[in-house]
Amino acid sequence: MSQDAKKYLITGANGQLGQLVVQSLVKKVPASQVIALVRKPEAGAELAALGVEVRIGSYDDPTSLDAAFAGVDKLLLISSSEIGKRLPQHENVIAAAKKAGVAFIAYTSILRADSSPLGLAVEHAATEKSIAASGIPYAFLRNSWYLENYLGSIGPALEHGAVAGAAGEGRISAASRADYAEAAAVVLVNSDQYINAVLELAGDEAFTLGSLAATIGDLAGKPVVYAYMPEEAYKAMLVQVGLPEAFAGLLADSDVGASKGGLFDEGKALSRIIGRPTTSLKTVLAAALGQ
Ligand SMILES: NC(=O)c1ccc[n+]([C@@H]2O[C@H](COP(=O)([O-])OP(=O)(O)OC[C@H]3O[C@@H](n4cnc5c(N)ncnc54)[C@H](OP(=O)(O)O)[C@@H]3O)[C@@H](O)[C@H]2O)c1
Repeated sequence: MSQDAKKYLITGANGQLGQLVVQSLVKKVPASQVIALVRKPEAGAELAALGVEVRIGSYDDPTSLDAAFAGVDKLLLISSSEIGKRLPQHENVIAAAKKAGVAFIAYTSILRADSSPLGLAVEHAATEKSIAASGIPYAFLRNSWYLENYLGSIGPALEHGAVAGAAGEGRISAASRADYAEAAAVVLVNSDQYINAVLELAGDEAFTLGSLAATIGDLAGKPVVYAYMPEEAYKAMLVQVGLPEAFAGLLADSDVGASKGGLFDEGKALSRIIGRPTTSLKTVLAAALGQ
């Protein structure tokens, strides 16, 4: 089969990252070579409008994955959003990829998955090991934080003049979903250059929660301060504003991990792969504020 006729399958294709990957990919290869995996048929309508094939499959249902991966050459496994269940789900995907003879698998992992202080990294590190053990050529897309994770800070910052967090003075090299998506598409299309690559992907410019607060304040034209809270107090506050306890704990743990440098990286691999500087925090915040 020629390079031009390779079939690409993106899992989690209707998710926020997945949609952006499909949009990037159809600018690089014909849409007829792109397959979007979703778990509910109704989730595929917008993707189908891009001209891609939509297949149905769930990480929890190996039979559905066997059918969905037929004829697939290159696979992007977008990590499951179901924290705690991710390893068995991802192992179902890897086993189905192996059975289908998939020739390349890219996986959206987390920055320095094998040494990260963030609890979230445990399932990613285990998934990476399973992929490596499968013998399928791979690329680990070790994504740092999404800039979009901070859009939820805008409302409270404008209302209370403060951004709360437990990340201390930790520097965070977040990047936009669109930049990570573009990198995933580049790696898939040029997979020959990324065989068994471990890519630490992060934004060019790091910021602390203090500079996040200041940037929101500058854009909004009002003072916004960073209110540091210890892990337990921050978790309790998140529970109080309505987050489920487990998710609140995970966010607080991630902030503590960030305070230890777990989300900081200055290697600039992401901007090299996408061929331009990464989108800045200010740009993403300004867009969210309608500026
Ligand atoms: N780097 C970061 O800052 C960061 C932040 C948040 C999440 N993440 C990770 O990155 C992934 C992608 O981010 P995102 O923003 O695109 O998340 P998202 O919008 O929640 O999308 C997650 C996608 O995974 C699919 N999915 C979940 N469980 C599945 C299952 N059992 N079988 C098949 N598909 C399943 C979802 O399908 P449905 O629409 O059917 O649920 C959805 O398409 C997340 O899942 C998470 O692992 C990273």
